[in-house]
Amino acid sequence: MSGLDNVIAAETRLSEVDGLNGRLVICGHSLDALAGQKSFEAVLALLLLPDVLSSSEEAVRAELAQARLRAFREVARLDTDLLSLSLTEALRALMARLPDGEDKSVALLQIAAPAVFVPALIRAKAGRKPIPPHTGRSHAADMLAMLTGDQPGEEHIRALDTYLVTVSDHGLNASTFTARVVASTRAGYASAVLAALGALKGPLHGGAPGPVLDMLDAVGAPEQAADWVAAKLGRGERLMGFGHRIYRVRDPRADALKTALNRLGAAGGMDADRLALAEAVERTALAALRAAKPDRVLETNVEFFTALLLEALGFPRDAFTGVFAAGRVGGWVAHAHEQIHTGRLIRPQSRYVGPKAA
Ligand code: ACO
Repeated sequence: MSGLDNVIAAETRLSEVDGLNGRLVICGHSLDALAGQKSFEAVLALLLLPDVLSSSEEAVRAELAQARLRAFREVARLDTDLLSLSLTEALRALMARLPDGEDKSVALLQIAAPAVFVPALIRAKAGRKPIPPHTGRSHAADMLAMLTGDQPGEEHIRALDTYLVTVSDHGLNASTFTARVVASTRAGYASAVLAALGALKGPLHGGAPGPVLDMLDAVGAPEQAADWVAAKLGRGERLMGFGHRIYRVRDPRADALKTALNRLGAAGGMDADRLALAEAVERTALAALRAAKPDRVLETNVEFFTALLLEALGFPRDAFTGVFAAGRVGGWVAHAHEQIHTGRLIRPQSRYVGPKAA
């Protein structure tokens, strides 16, 4: 049994992952036409039309801003037990407190909440006061303002918007499949998102970008990349940020994020030495993976440049999975909505291989 490879488990109008050609299409738009071009709110309007969100970007922006205010009320209940958890676990605990159901207000609160909870948790864990949302800002701008307390620069807002759009939806990945399974039982949006967050947390899925930075730190300098990578693969370990179940070429999201990173540049917080080290590690890793697994295409995936971009934007590495959730939650809710309205209970079968009954 191999991880439901090639099994079609849903029909969706939301996104298509073309693994052979390295192309991602979201609601009829290629990723190139969205990342860096459209706001997160505009992409949410595409994903969630017509039942959950309004049709215009401006209306979505206003609805989401109101939902951020509602989410912030939960932040008042941060306690020391919660803050002693890892950031992703604390996010999961906060998300679990939100009301459940299948109505629009539940869906909106779910979409808004991670963008509020992640900066609040980063600050509270560092002993700083969480900053409330501001309804006059875009989702990406407000997320950055809630992180730093300052009005973010346009280049930072655009970079985070690009990130949120890039990861907003991606076919039936593990967390989205999880959301659909839970939604199919009619448990509600909050349960679907919570379960999806649990799936996202794993290092083979959305838990990879923090370890990408750990890898860069461990390598230390470009000239040490070859030895480090060889030793890691020699121990039979995986290189985080490489490989994908569907893509047989480079993940197009890696390029979208690399473009955002280059656009951010040194003035926007991108450290040139860090980028040079990352490029050396990427080159070395790709060559080593080609040599180690000549029959399996293992290319750079979205998580490699996610790590560098989110670091440049000032997010600590233990928050990367939470920031990923702030973008992917749009896709989770859209898939849950589609499942509720067009699907049936998801209930596959297993083949029994245990002992026969006496
Ligand atoms: N480093 C080293 N070897 C690898 C890697 C890697 N990153 N990825 C796959 N391989 C190897 C496997 O060990 C396996 O070798 P084997 O046949 O000798 O056992 C072979 O390549 C095939 O790998 P699979 O496990 O079949 O690949 P699968 O499609 O199941 O996994 C996955 C895809 C989980 C992304 C994998 O490539 C991986 O673990 N990558 C590292 C973690 C990572 O970057 N995750 C983020 C993915 S993107 C996202 O979820 C948003």
